[in-house]
Amino acid sequence: MSIKNLFNGLLLFVFPVVVFLQIQCGSPQEKVMTKDEMIKRGAYLVNFGGCNDCHSPKVFTDMGPVPDTTKLLSGHQQGLVIPRVDTSLIGPGKWYLSNGDLTSWVGPWGISFAANLTPDVQTGIGAWTEEIFIRAMRNGLHLGAGRPILPPMPFMGLAGLSDADLKSVFAYLKSIKPISNKVPDPVPPNEVAARYGK
Ligand code: HEC
Repeated sequence: MSIKNLFNGLLLFVFPVVVFLQIQCGSPQEKVMTKDEMIKRGAYLVNFGGCNDCHSPKVFTDMGPVPDTTKLLSGHQQGLVIPRVDTSLIGPGKWYLSNGDLTSWVGPWGISFAANLTPDVQTGIGAWTEEIFIRAMRNGLHLGAGRPILPPMPFMGLAGLSDADLKSVFAYLKSIKPISNKVPDPVPPNEVAARYGK
């Protein structure tokens, strides 16, 4: 075998190896992450995913509502009085309504209240396992196996995340400050007028 053939043969072998290594290095979520790396990626995904928009109570500024940083991701606040609802306004082609905190929502599904995503054991996700979280987000079912998760929770977006990304979101949520806040149960559509109607 000539030197040239040997060189070409080596190139054929080396080139795919280099490409393979580059693909491996190019996708950070596929390498095994440390706990700290998972928490950091989870924070990034939660921030980008807009979870605070619905899951954090708000303070009002000149620029409008912003998340209350002392109660981040603790959900619809226990005991908060929500406004009465004009049920004739609600429905497809009409309005869906939310309170000023964007933590409770009225629509044909009744009234939904954004969950407490902090690791408080009694009222948040402190007792959840990674498996429960992944099943809930993939199946759109409460606690992964119960009633359907109600609008406007955008679980369909989370369902498309890789296992590594869902685990990272969960690791981040488990790492934040636990806040005790018992979010109300949803109100079924046939009870909205009687309990909250104008
Ligand atoms: C547009 C508003 C909205 C946004 C944005 C949102 N959520 Fe929710 N989320 C809700 C509401 C409302 C509920 C309560 C639904 C119910 O009671 O069925 C909920 C419930 C949940 C639950 C509880 C599920 C269960 O098993 O009951 C989890 C976990 C959750 N959200 C995670 C997230 C994460 C993580 C993000 C950001 C990537 C996010 N949510 C963004 C509105 C939202």
